[in-house]
Amino acid sequence: MLATDNLWFRYQDEPILKGLSLDFSRQPVTGLVGANGCGKSTLFMNLSGILRPQQGTVQWQGKPLDYSKRALLALRQQVTTVFQDPDQQIFYTDIDSDIAFSLRNIGVPEAEIARRVEDALTLVDAQSFRHQPIQCLSHGQKKRVAIAGALVLQAKYLLLDEPTAGLDPAGRTQMLTLIRRIVAQGNHVVISSHDIDLIYEICDAVYVLRRGELLTHGAPGEVFARRALIEEAGLTQPWLVKLHSELGFPLCKSEDEFYARMRAMPVKEAS
Ligand SMILES: Nc1ncnc2c1ncn2[C@@H]1O[C@H](COP(=O)(O)OP(=O)(O)OP(=O)(O)O)[C@@H](O)[C@H]1O
Ligand SMILES: [Mg+2]
Repeated sequence: MLATDNLWFRYQDEPILKGLSLDFSRQPVTGLVGANGCGKSTLFMNLSGILRPQQGTVQWQGKPLDYSKRALLALRQQVTTVFQDPDQQIFYTDIDSDIAFSLRNIGVPEAEIARRVEDALTLVDAQSFRHQPIQCLSHGQKKRVAIAGALVLQAKYLLLDEPTAGLDPAGRTQMLTLIRRIVAQGNHVVISSHDIDLIYEICDAVYVLRRGELLTHGAPGEVFARRALIEEAGLTQPWLVKLHSELGFPLCKSEDEFYARMRAMPVKEAS
């Protein structure tokens, strides 16, 4: 179980997260949305024990998080974060060593490391630039390397902070496939993103934050139907929800589902 219980976090005297009680274990994919600066990345750093709340707790496996070095190392094998900025988590200049680093750290056998690195690089479509020095990669390529670095740990919880920012459309589609695959293996994903259409499509539950407070939460179809609240949070409704609420089209979860339903509808003759 990964959750927060009345969590307050302040930078200096400035409250950033205000009494958040969130549960990321209830659904396979939980989304976190809110305007710039509302506290999403700060929350992720609290969840992985990088930052420590001044009040309230992060709950891990039914207990308040233990901040000893040993416990945090164990936590980070089970709760892995892909940070918003890939430079924050890439340490080596060669990709293979960088991705293998965390596995060597916990003593995974070399043959197993080679297999996992190979799989992860294929999954994020990074094989074509695998042998380039990391400092020569584009932002989107570095992002793919950072995602591969998290995937190899095969953690129970994968926290993705803006995973598609800087990715091209193919990268975005791969991300959707990747998340579905991780979930199919019985793991949980927490995803923060400004790509509201992606959040709507992939999440089973959504938390909406506004200036560090929980504004609303629930199933994506219900949450994003509340237009006034969504706009109050500085967000916009997903396009599939707009088509439903503005024009009365059926509420569909994905573009493909929408087109399939439209094609199946009887065509009216123009008079
Ligand atoms: N190291 C820091 N010291 C002081 N204040 C900080 C620090 N890091 C972030 N903040 C402040 O904390 C608030 C929340 O920042 P955070 O990065 O968590 O927001 P976010 O929701 O992830 O935003 P974005 O959508 O832009 O990624 C912001 O007001 C930010 O200015
Ligand atoms: Mg952020």
